[in-house]
Amino acid sequence: MKRIAVLASGRGSNFQSVIDAIRKGTIPAVCERLVTDNPHAPAIARAQKAGIPVSIVPFGTFGSKERFEQELLSVMQGIDPDLFILAGYMRILGSSVVREFSGKIINIHPALLPSFPGLHAQRQTIAYGAKVSGCTVHFVDEGTDTGPIIMQRCVPVREDDDEYTLAARILRKEHRALVEAVRLFCEGKIRIQGRTVKILI
Ligand code: GAR
Repeated sequence: MKRIAVLASGRGSNFQSVIDAIRKGTIPAVCERLVTDNPHAPAIARAQKAGIPVSIVPFGTFGSKERFEQELLSVMQGIDPDLFILAGYMRILGSSVVREFSGKIINIHPALLPSFPGLHAQRQTIAYGAKVSGCTVHFVDEGTDTGPIIMQRCVPVREDDDEYTLAARILRKEHRALVEAVRLFCEGKIRIQGRTVKILI
């Protein structure tokens, strides 16, 4: 059994899909903590319902990004799981955190990276006029959404889409892709080779 922890800032539907997959036995892991930077995140209620302890590190109370990062790092060190999952965590992780947990943090992003990194990926996709989009699960490195790609899933962009209809279509793929990637990680089937990720079968 692997030990995992989740960082989320908001709704937590990806977090919920991980909780559900653990409960069903699809992911061989125990989720030991939810960490959030947002005291009002609906993800907190999902954790409580599932009996998962929550650590709240509220960005606003720290006065500086450096002090926030220091506290976040110490909370993460206190958990020290096999894997951290960024599931709708809306801040860039500082380099101290990324270095400490290199190869042990994955993120889900609502676009086909390296296109449309950063915030509002679905809005960027619509504005650019792309015809295909999707989601990417990747390891986190010190860049913004630049780490080695574990898995991508595609969806069409339809003529009448706006960012919300597109986001909903992508989100359904996200839930499955994230569960699949976490399962593979927990089964020891993922190897990072430079910028490439190999899935062992
Ligand atoms: C998801 O679409 C996730 O890919 C995105 O935020 C949403 C969170 O939804 N993450 C990012 O944009 C990270 N840059 P959720 O809270 O319901 O899982």
